[in-house]
Amino acid sequence: MNPFSFHNPTAIFFGEGSLSKLGEQIGQYGKSVLLVYGGGSIKKSGLYDRVLEQLNAAGASVVELSGIEPNPRLTTVNKGIELCRTHGVEFILAVGGGSVIDASKAIAAGAKYDGDVWDFLDRKAVVQDALPLGTVLTLAATGSEMNGSSVITNWETQLKRGFGSPHVYPRFSILDPTLTYTVPRDQTVNGIVDIMSHVFEQYFSLTTDTPLQERLCESILQTVIENAEIALEQPENYAARANIMWCGTLALNGGLISLGMTNDWASHGIEHEISAIYDIPHGAGLSIVFPNWMKYVYDARPDRFAQYAVRVWGIDPAGKSEDELALAGIEATRAFFTKIGAPATLSHYNIGRDNLDRMAEEAVRFGPIGSFKRLNKEDVKAIYELSL
Ligand code: NZQ
Ligand code: ZN
Repeated sequence: MNPFSFHNPTAIFFGEGSLSKLGEQIGQYGKSVLLVYGGGSIKKSGLYDRVLEQLNAAGASVVELSGIEPNPRLTTVNKGIELCRTHGVEFILAVGGGSVIDASKAIAAGAKYDGDVWDFLDRKAVVQDALPLGTVLTLAATGSEMNGSSVITNWETQLKRGFGSPHVYPRFSILDPTLTYTVPRDQTVNGIVDIMSHVFEQYFSLTTDTPLQERLCESILQTVIENAEIALEQPENYAARANIMWCGTLALNGGLISLGMTNDWASHGIEHEISAIYDIPHGAGLSIVFPNWMKYVYDARPDRFAQYAVRVWGIDPAGKSEDELALAGIEATRAFFTKIGAPATLSHYNIGRDNLDRMAEEAVRFGPIGSFKRLNKEDVKAIYELSL
């Protein structure tokens, strides 16, 4: 196990009715609030009215930024920064999924920075300060509600990049599983794949002597797998939605489950280049890429993949070699993704070879990626080829 330090400052209010905490939380941070949300799901569900009621009761003056895109765009972030400056915004409230939260984080950092906010995403500057923000989560997927990461797309240059900073951890996040009842089937599936992928990025590690961390990862995977089909068949099943939501938060909240382990994150880099150009949902891209990454790298440490097959998928090890077990676990992953309706190939989105070279080049722009197996441009391209 490697040495580590850990601090996560986000207060969590979890459970049905936890939205009632919003007013008192906001009250701690100022009266001028930027309310950020997406394309209208919160108006349709009635959540918008419930949020405004609380903001009004808390005496907040509210400026709104709506229309945050899935795969949020730099141009929209810049609009939010402008609104913060014009209206003297003191607090940002994100009501939505990962895209709304990520855009809010970039706005929070950009509002306190004199230069171009893209500098943070292009690794030309490091966030030194940010407006405080809080979230009301409506979709279980990214973990953005309890981490310091944000992923933004520059649509003009077709680049999707992330930044991380302790300054943009939400001060609080309200996690009411009933707010996810209205998430459509495909977005529920994307969220499930994203949550599992966040665990994979940490679990498939070369670090040794981390039994607790491995079991934390395995238990999240098992819990998601057990609850996935229930949530898909019964979208208003509280227990299933609640379990998936909490798994999503724990899977990526500053690395709690994998402290002391070297993480990989190559598959996320490989996926981001696909959604940067083709604007496909992040979870769908991961469903296509991840099992192919697994096949490409498993021989760096087949024992970890064999453990995954046995402990997570319950595959009987009797009479099987380590390699056979590893491959059976990878097949089980693909079969599960397919069973819940997640795509397996780029051709599902009519994506062909055209941009593979460019995507591979961009994926390694800052150097080889991954740690389980270091991947250079040719490796990344090979994984794209496997994904066609
Ligand atoms: O825009 P609205 O109308 O709200 O609709 C959204 C959107 O169309 C809809 N939705 C959300 N909650 C709903 C709902 N529809 C009905 N009922 C509800 N309760 O779902 C659609 C997708 O929302 P989005 O926020 O884009 O999904 P997700 O949470 O999966 O976020 C994806 C983004 O997060 C980034 C991804 O790259 C992608 O840009 N990521 C952020 C991470 C982080 N900050 O730590 C890590 C991840 O690995 C990921 O890269
Ligand atoms: Zn992800």
